[in-house]
This record gives sequence, C-alpha cells and structure tokens, in this order.
Amino acid sequence: MYCTIGILVFVFIIIGATAGILYLIFQPKLPNYSVDSLKISDLRLNLDMTLYAKFDVKITANNPNKKIGIHYEQGGRLSVWYTNTKLCQGTLPKFYQGHQNKTLLNVALTGQTQYGNTLMNALQQQQQTGRIPLDLKVDAPVAIQLGRLKLMKVWILGECLLVVDSLTANNLISIKANNCSFRLKL
Ligand SMILES: *[C@@H]1O[C@H](CO)[C@@H](O)[C@H](O)[C@H]1NC(C)=O
Ligand SMILES: *[C@@H]1O[C@H](CO)[C@@H](O)[C@H](O)[C@H]1NC(C)=O
Repeated sequence: MYCTIGILVFVFIIIGATAGILYLIFQPKLPNYSVDSLKISDLRLNLDMTLYAKFDVKITANNPNKKIGIHYEQGGRLSVWYTNTKLCQGTLPKFYQGHQNKTLLNVALTGQTQYGNTLMNALQQQQQTGRIPLDLKVDAPVAIQLGRLKLMKVWILGECLLVVDSLTANNLISIKANNCSFRLKL
C-alpha cells in the first residue's frame, strides 16, 4: 500500500520535473495575431431578406517562439460577428510556421444571414455613431513542432474586439480599436 503510494508520488515527481525541464528548454509562448486591415467588398440585402456579406481581412500571425514551430492544420476558421450574429466566415490556409516567423494572411470571408433587414437597420444606426463594434473570432487547429517531434493537435481560440468607423462597401475601413486575446484548448 505505502509502497504503491510511494511509487505514484515518485512517478508524479518525474512527470512534473520532465514537464518543468521541457518548459524551461522550449519556453512556450502563445502565438498572437493582429488585424491589419478590413475591407468590405459587399454588404447587401438579398430579395429573400437575407444579408449577404463579403469581407476581406488581412491578419498577421506571429509565432514568437524560438524553438517551437506551428503547423496550422486544415479546418481553421475566421469569422466576423456583430453582437451575437455571425456576418461572415472564411477559412485559414494550411501551412507551417517556423520559429519567430510572422506571416501575413489574406482571408476572404463570406456569409448570408437571416433577418437581414433588421440587421441592416441596426448596422446603419450604429454607423451613424461612427463606431461599429465587430467581433473577429479565430478558431484554428494547430500541431506543435518541437525539434523533430510533431505533437498532438490543439486548438487556438482567439477573439479580437474591433471598433470600425464605417461599413461602406469597397472602402478600406479604419479600425479604431483592436483588442485581441487568445487561449489554447486541448
Ligand atoms: C514565414 O513563413 C512563411 C510560411 O511558411 C514563409 O512563406 C515565409 O517566407 C516565412 N518568413 C520568414 C521571414 O522566414
Ligand atoms: C481588452 O479586452 C479586455 C477583455 O475583453 C478588457 O478587459 C480590456 O480592458 C480591453 N483593453 C482595451 C485596451 O480595450
């Protein structure tokens, strides 16, 4: 009995120490993103009263790690929300990002939302204040590369709270505030 507990404690200490050493060697840091620009190519009401939106977003993905590479796997998504309504969504490319690499990603987002007229009215009223809050959500499956070892898949979940000045199509929208936060989901 005591012997089993002793072995368990020993195993836990070994696992803890190994994790600690790996942490010190690799010094993992979360990747981060910034939204460089947002362009609205299309935003209109369809005859069936759905709202069609097409946004082009440029984001920079930054891997700050000196010893960790990041494989962005298939299925990464970027979406733009107004209050709790998803306006549009696009897919992130599949690529490998090396150590301390910054990559500019151009993502086209499209979407069709129901109750478009209510939504369009709300957006137009908000536009008169010159400050439209939008939520940009990142949802990316990644695999971590430590040296030659490719580890299991984890998810990067990010959210950027943007405030833009207008939603006029074919204008480069100026982003007045840009506050992103990220976390990992195993
Ligand atoms: C960063 O990674 C991308 C994608 O793998 C690559 O195209 C680009 O050349 C890299 N940039 C630098 C500075 O290494
Ligand atoms: C960014 O967002 C967080 C949480 O949503 C908030 O606590 C913080 O004050 C915001 N920072 C800025 C500069 O807006």
